[in-house]
Amino acid sequence: MAHLWSGRFAGDPDAELFAFGSSFRFDRRLFEDDVRGSLAWAAGLGRAGVLSAADASAIDGGLREILERGTADPAFVNDTHGDEDVHAFVERELIARIGDAGRRLHTGRSRNEQVAVDLRLYLKRRVPLLQGEIAAAAASLIELADRAGDALMPSYTHLRRAQPVLVAHFLLSHVASLRRDVDRLNAVLDEIDELPLGSGAIAGTAYPIDVRALADALGFTRVARNSMDVSGDRDFVASFLHAASLGMVHLSRIAEDFILFTSEEFGYFDLADSAATGSSLMPQKKNPDPLELVRGKSGRVIGHLAGWLVTMKGLPAGYNKDLQEDKEALFDAEDTWIGCLRASASVIGGLRPNPAVTGRAASGLLLATDVADYLVAKGLPFRDAHEVVGALVRRLLAEQRSFDDLTLDDWRQHSPLFAEDVRQAVTPLASISKKRTPQSTAPDAVAAALSETREWLRAQRSP
Ligand code: ARG
Repeated sequence: MAHLWSGRFAGDPDAELFAFGSSFRFDRRLFEDDVRGSLAWAAGLGRAGVLSAADASAIDGGLREILERGTADPAFVNDTHGDEDVHAFVERELIARIGDAGRRLHTGRSRNEQVAVDLRLYLKRRVPLLQGEIAAAAASLIELADRAGDALMPSYTHLRRAQPVLVAHFLLSHVASLRRDVDRLNAVLDEIDELPLGSGAIAGTAYPIDVRALADALGFTRVARNSMDVSGDRDFVASFLHAASLGMVHLSRIAEDFILFTSEEFGYFDLADSAATGSSLMPQKKNPDPLELVRGKSGRVIGHLAGWLVTMKGLPAGYNKDLQEDKEALFDAEDTWIGCLRASASVIGGLRPNPAVTGRAASGLLLATDVADYLVAKGLPFRDAHEVVGALVRRLLAEQRSFDDLTLDDWRQHSPLFAEDVRQAVTPLASISKKRTPQSTAPDAVAAALSETREWLRAQRSP
């Protein structure tokens, strides 16, 4: 068969090598973006007087028909003709429909800039959907916070009990990282907001194309600065893969927390039966497989980022075929991320908090900071208070006791500053209620954070 470049060759390419280099298998995802890019290009050629009005209109009609067929029936975009890539597919379909006029579409244009515009258009329409999926995962955490109500739990540093917090505060901490993922994708949207067309293969185009008008037609704010840069630039793919990698790191950490907190050792939340699997051998097991897979799949997305950076790093200026490797990395990262967001939202949607268990765990020696703060309020320098309470904790550990079974005499053996009011000062509820900053676990701060988050959720696109 004839390829987009057959003229220069005396013979056909080796079939296996052609298949090796073909990208249609995966770049068919860019079908509608490719047609839209070509529609705008043909209109640009028409406006510039490069195409006759009749040819421009024939191309426009042909491309619209192809777009309609392909969007109505994805099976239309298939490999029966042995096309090298999606660009070859669309051009062949166009020529089959309108004949010679179709052979004029590629005037002044290169596949190098075409693939760059396609991928940008693709991300422009896909990134908002991803942001909607992230918001849906955040919404599942907020609903869980509603179910948790005013339940308390320990927070951890070094995976050792640190201080009491509201369960809702813990859940909002994960929402905060998901919100950064949405913002990071906004930065990706800004980076791709640049029209590559007009760059030709590398040196620009010899036809008087109004690239500003073309940018407007395709919804780009800016025009690329340099045609050579366009030819070889896939930084935006790296930026997307970085956003996806960090997004997966966040999902992985959420998964890890719930794997731990639904275990027999913690028992802070119960996993819905529908979100777990059993063991083929051990009848008692209820395994958090979906969460483990989310954690596991983060490695694969991070791998795509690392792999892509390595692919780019040694390339000479301009287009190189290595760049074709961008698409499988990007598409798989996107699919994996969306799959993990949905799985996470689904598992979180079925979690049941156990306030009795988390509340009990939020009491005891993790109130030591509050005891120190009590002494500070009575005038003792914090460093001295820290030492007094440290010694008290050492004693309690040796005697296997806790703050709440100390008599006033016991307290006073450690400092004369302790008085009857120490009992009310050293409880989990007093601990969270004493917090004063807006980002703290103080109940009023958490209530405000929850309502601010709900407002944010309302402003997000739904998936
Ligand atoms: N399939 C190619 C890619 O993804 C399209 C660009 C081809 N350009 C070229 N000069 N062979 O990069």
